[in-house]
Formats: sequence, structure tokens, C-alpha cells
Amino acid sequence: ERLLAPSGPLSGKHVIVTSGPTHEPIDPVRYIANRSSGKQGHAIAKAAAAAGARVTLISGPVDLPDPKGVTVVRVESAREMLEAVEGALPADIGIFAAAVADWRVANAGEQKIKKKDGALPNLTLTENPDILATISHLKKGRPALMVGFAAETENVIEHAKQKLAKKGCDLIVANDVSPDAGVMGGDSNTVHLVTQSGVETWPTLPKAEVAEKLIAHVGVLIGGVKS
Ligand code: CTP
Ligand code: CA
Repeated sequence: ERLLAPSGPLSGKHVIVTSGPTHEPIDPVRYIANRSSGKQGHAIAKAAAAAGARVTLISGPVDLPDPKGVTVVRVESAREMLEAVEGALPADIGIFAAAVADWRVANAGEQKIKKKDGALPNLTLTENPDILATISHLKKGRPALMVGFAAETENVIEHAKQKLAKKGCDLIVANDVSPDAGVMGGDSNTVHLVTQSGVETWPTLPKAEVAEKLIAHVGVLIGGVKS
């Protein structure tokens, strides 16, 4: 279904968006998760489609409808999300808004873990692959423009600058996710755009407007980065 603005600023471009949390199994009935709602990532996918792009949205478990005119791939874990992103390449633009779980349980149970006389289960954590860093560092087939997010609860700008360098992306959208900011699960967002050339702070806006402004910005950047 490609009915939205086929001749917009992103027409002819393939955009991969990641969105939502990931769920990391502990056993067949339990998992590790986080408070991401997927609202910002889904709004970005919708805005990219409205700008004429072909959009693949790789979504973790969220309670949101699939945006119209977007190809949606639903995944559970970080490793599944990485596989789905790799499967969706090639792309011109990657916008990775998902709140990927940093750790998974290395020794996840194949059966439901049972209580045994007060003994606690011994769960060992291991680090998940960094999807943004993996794709941004691809030698072959890297999207021309890679956008990451930085969810922080303190020193937002400083941490975002470090992430920009470490992950090898072109732009970091940084936001404050401390509980009083109300971003996690809320409908508005206050973001800072961090690039090599500086920091641009936007006013607090509904997530749909942040998405539209970000896509307009991406359209300008990609215009100058012909693939
Ligand atoms: N990200 C990713 N894969 C991961 C972890 C993060 O693709 N395993 C991406 C997120 O989608 C986001 C960016 O990296 O675009 C930053 O995520 P964030 O959680 O803020 O950074 P981390 O590098 O995980 O560092 P920390 O959580 O320790 O702040
Ligand atoms: Ca993280």
C-alpha cells in the first residue's frame, strides 16, 4: 500500500526504522523488558512514508497498530532485531529508535524455571549485539545516513557526543528519559540533535511533530549525501 506522497522529499529512498523495546527470554514464560512504548519510532516510520520513502519498520513488542503504507517486521529479542535489519538491507537511511535491551540471559531455561525450597535461580547475563554500531560500521552496504538515539537520564549532550563517536553514526537524537521528563510512554519529547558539527535543541513537541521535523532534517542531509 503506497498511497502517501510518492513524490515527497524521500521518494526513491528505502528507510529502515527500528522501534520499541526488545524482550529477552528468561524462560518460555518470562522475559526482561523496558518501558519503551515504540511511539517515537512508529511516528518516524509513518512520517518517512508520508515523505515518499519505502519504509521497513522493525518493531519489538509494542501495543501500537502498524503504520499505513509501511512494511512491518515484528521481532522479540535484540538478536532477532539485528537479523531482521540485516535482512532488510540495502537501505539509504537507517533510523534506529528502538530501546534495545543491553543484556540477555545467557542460560535462559528451555522449560519454565521452578521454585525449589527457597533456592534462587542463577541467571547469567551476557551483552546483546549493538545493532546501530554493527550497521554503522559496515564496510559494505552501510546506509548513506545512519541516525541513532541516545536515551539518557543525566549529562544528556555529553553522553550523546560519546555515542556519536563510538557507534559511527551520522546523527544522534538525544533525549532525557528520567522519570520526571515523562518521555517513556508519554506523547511528547524534548530532543537534541547531535552531529560532528554541533548540537541543535528543539522545543518540547508531540512525538508526531518530532518525527516530521526529523524526517524533514534527514531529507536535507540525504540530499547532500547522494548514494
Ligand atoms: N542500540 C542498538 N543496539 C543495542 C543497544 C543500543 O542498536 N544493543 C541503539 C539504540 O537503538 C539507539 C542507540 O543505540 O539508537 C543508543 O542506545 P542507548 O541505549 O542510549 O545506548 P547504549 O550504547 O546501549 O548505552 P547505555 O544504555 O549504556 O547508555
Ligand atoms: Ca542501552
